[in-house]
Amino acid sequence: MVEELTTFTPFEMEGLVARNRIVKSATAEAMADDMGFVTDDLIEFYKKLAEGGVGTIITGFMYISEKGIAMKRMTGVSSDEHIDGLKKLVKEVKQAYKEKWDDDVVFIAQIVHAGRQNYPFGDPVAPSPIPEGLTGVKPRELTNEEVYQIIDDFVKASLRIEKAGFDGVQLHCAHGYLLSQFISPYTNRRKDEFGKQREKILIDIIDGIKDKSDFPVIIKMNAVDFIPGGLEIEDSVRIAKSLDKAGYTAIEVSGGMWESAIYMKYNVVCQNVKKSGEAYFAEYAKKIRREVNIPVMIVGGIRSLRTAENLLKNLEFVSMARPLIRDPYLPEKWMNRETQESDCLSCNKCLRNISSRELRCYADEK
Ligand SMILES: Cc1cc2nc3c(=O)[nH]c(=O)nc-3n(C[C@H](O)[C@H](O)[C@H](O)COP(=O)(O)O)c2cc1C
Repeated sequence: MVEELTTFTPFEMEGLVARNRIVKSATAEAMADDMGFVTDDLIEFYKKLAEGGVGTIITGFMYISEKGIAMKRMTGVSSDEHIDGLKKLVKEVKQAYKEKWDDDVVFIAQIVHAGRQNYPFGDPVAPSPIPEGLTGVKPRELTNEEVYQIIDDFVKASLRIEKAGFDGVQLHCAHGYLLSQFISPYTNRRKDEFGKQREKILIDIIDGIKDKSDFPVIIKMNAVDFIPGGLEIEDSVRIAKSLDKAGYTAIEVSGGMWESAIYMKYNVVCQNVKKSGEAYFAEYAKKIRREVNIPVMIVGGIRSLRTAENLLKNLEFVSMARPLIRDPYLPEKWMNRETQESDCLSCNKCLRNISSRELRCYADEK
């Protein structure tokens, strides 16, 4: 008899039932057309993930407004015109899941404003005009009115995501993009209400969504920035508690900004698991989980079923990005015990290619 693993037990949050505890963490796909519309390539990418049996899929970041674009060929949700393509994506992915697993996948769309990390696109903005260390870009400080406009853009984008049929939306408040710039004391030195209470922008966004709908809102947030003067765990625990109170459905815990690489001398977000070891943000995720009442997803360096099982003793979900780019069928293989590990090398060629080519595993190419 095969022992029962927590990894393959269902979990329900706010009426969404995930078939198992594995989440596909958001990864930019660079597969939309020039206007941010969904393409067949994008649909095929997600259909493979659906066939592979992951319980929850989170899309790559989508822009909420043209001013917030982070990279080329990014999917957009900045206008009602984007809804039809997104509808098709949801329909086909859910259908593929149903055919293979006779079940429903939890399909979440991630949304973002790039803020000062929009190099080399347009007008970089930020809570405060602190230069971005890697690119040297000096952002313009957002006016108070502009912050309210951005809140409205996030709310409208979330409602479009709901109209398209997704099960929930995830705010990207990690890795140094605009929302994570707001919660960081390093990048947010504002004197107005958005500086006095750095998480206010997140509370205003969910309040705006909940005014119109019960749509589940998840957040991916930094626990630590790995920058002197940046966000530290005590502060992120405090913020997580207020997000729980504000009605967020779940928190995915990550860490690092682009600029962290200067201080740490490595890519903090996408670490080399051979050096870092597996689940490199686990201690932070567990600290946050101890203080909140909502499910917590842990991302970063999960590579084996054994590690997943261990993490699930304290956390509700394990989230993976690079392993599922390498092999979308990994959850099915773990389930059937064909393998108990990922053969992702953490080479980050997927990441390096994303600015010029579509998302896939390039590890086997010279
Ligand atoms: C090619 C690539 C694209 C990514 N794009 C996003 C993104 O759009 N949104 C996001 O929150 N994280 C993004 N990430 C970060 C991943 O979601 C994840 O946090 C990170 O890769 C660590 O997890 P892993 O060790 O399982 O890969 C990206 C990572 C890679 C490699």
